[in-house]
Amino acid sequence: MTEPKKSGSGKMWGGRFSEGTAASVEAFSASIQYDSRLYKYDIAGSKAHADMLADHGILTRDELTAIKDGLTAIEQEIDQGTFVFRRELEDIHMNIEKSLVERIGPAGAKLHSGRSRNDQVALDFKMYLRDQCDILMALLHDIRKAFVVLARKYLGHIMPGYTHMQRAQPVQIAHHMLAYYEMFGRDLGRMADCRKRLNLSPLGCAAMAGTGLPIDREQVAKALGFDGVTANSMDTSGDRDYAIEFTSTCTMIQLHLSRLSEELVLWSGQEFHFVDISDKFCTGSSIMPQKKNPDIPELIRGKSGRVVGSLMTLITLMKGLPLTYNRDLQEDKEPVFDAVDTVSASLAIMAELLENLTFNTERMAEATRTGCMTATDLADYLVLKNVPFREAHAIVGGAVAYCLKKGCELPDLTLAELAGFSPVIGKDVYEVLSVEGSVNSRISTGGTGGVRVAEAVVAAEKNLGLSQ
Ligand code: ARG
Repeated sequence: MTEPKKSGSGKMWGGRFSEGTAASVEAFSASIQYDSRLYKYDIAGSKAHADMLADHGILTRDELTAIKDGLTAIEQEIDQGTFVFRRELEDIHMNIEKSLVERIGPAGAKLHSGRSRNDQVALDFKMYLRDQCDILMALLHDIRKAFVVLARKYLGHIMPGYTHMQRAQPVQIAHHMLAYYEMFGRDLGRMADCRKRLNLSPLGCAAMAGTGLPIDREQVAKALGFDGVTANSMDTSGDRDYAIEFTSTCTMIQLHLSRLSEELVLWSGQEFHFVDISDKFCTGSSIMPQKKNPDIPELIRGKSGRVVGSLMTLITLMKGLPLTYNRDLQEDKEPVFDAVDTVSASLAIMAELLENLTFNTERMAEATRTGCMTATDLADYLVLKNVPFREAHAIVGGAVAYCLKKGCELPDLTLAELAGFSPVIGKDVYEVLSVEGSVNSRISTGGTGGVRVAEAVVAAEKNLGLSQ
């Protein structure tokens, strides 16, 4: 078996070079430390490419068999951790190709016909991201399920709803849980969109202008599960929109997780004591024996910075980048990999935490009894008695000020006291002043009223396949 002609630099691209690459340059420019993660996609892509080359007479059947067997052997070695990655070969593509040539000789050197690393790296990255979309969509499904289970479990229980972190209106705990079900549902939709848009094969765009060799891009695309091929070779060579779109969706997920984390941190503290996070998900203090700290939500909240940072890295990387491929693009992988690792781990552990979460329903209901939380209901009551809303707002404001001074709540006022604020107030006012009455009256679409939330739980269960 003969190796292809050695070049001055010893590199696979070194024919025109008379000197070897400086060690410092090899160290600075290598991506193998992180892009080895793509090896399975690189090998699957090469096999599909080789099949196509053989079908079009560029490889003989024997060469094809040698290439595919060689690639399988390399894959097994990487799986087992026995493959030796070489930094001087720069990246995963060159490491695999060089090893193939060393194993099978000239047939291996034919594999790169009609493609470039520019379309190859885009292919590997898209295939990787497509799988990550699927994995994240499954994790989003699981966390949504955890919210629906909680909503079902606590259906009918009441808590304060907040605006400006001040008690605003009483709501159902289930309504609060289903708010997150909706948020993560939008993330799921975004991830599905992203997957759909990225699922066009770049292979065969070659360096950036296409190739004169008789290749069949559609055949390779089909073999690799793509919906089709990209339309413009120049766009394809320098396109990383899909990576930005994916990371932006990851950022949105992590932002949603951070909001939930913040609430869990607050709710588990003594001031609120709305929830108990299971011991399994908390840690103690090395000095204060009484402490039980909500480290997991804190860490998830803190990790948002990494994901936002990844998105910023990618956006900055692409800004002002001229067509087509530029080596800058090698910087795309680490932020994406970090976002994937962070978001998938955060989603998985948060779902587990939710499955072990207990709501302190008495304490939550208790918290709705103070703060004149049914003031809006009193204003609505006046509106139904034909008082213009702005006037009603002012009347109720007066009643609230009176309560604050007296140190009582709206339902504690006598009918005579209430009627003093407006002559239209009658005995039936007490129905709207109770917290339960308030919650149950909010039956507008999307509201927290008993019927609406019960319907929403049923719809969510059906949507997730939880009900028969
Ligand atoms: N290691 C490179 C990357 O990840 C592969 C593509 C290199 N292409 C090139 N023309 N130098 O972007």
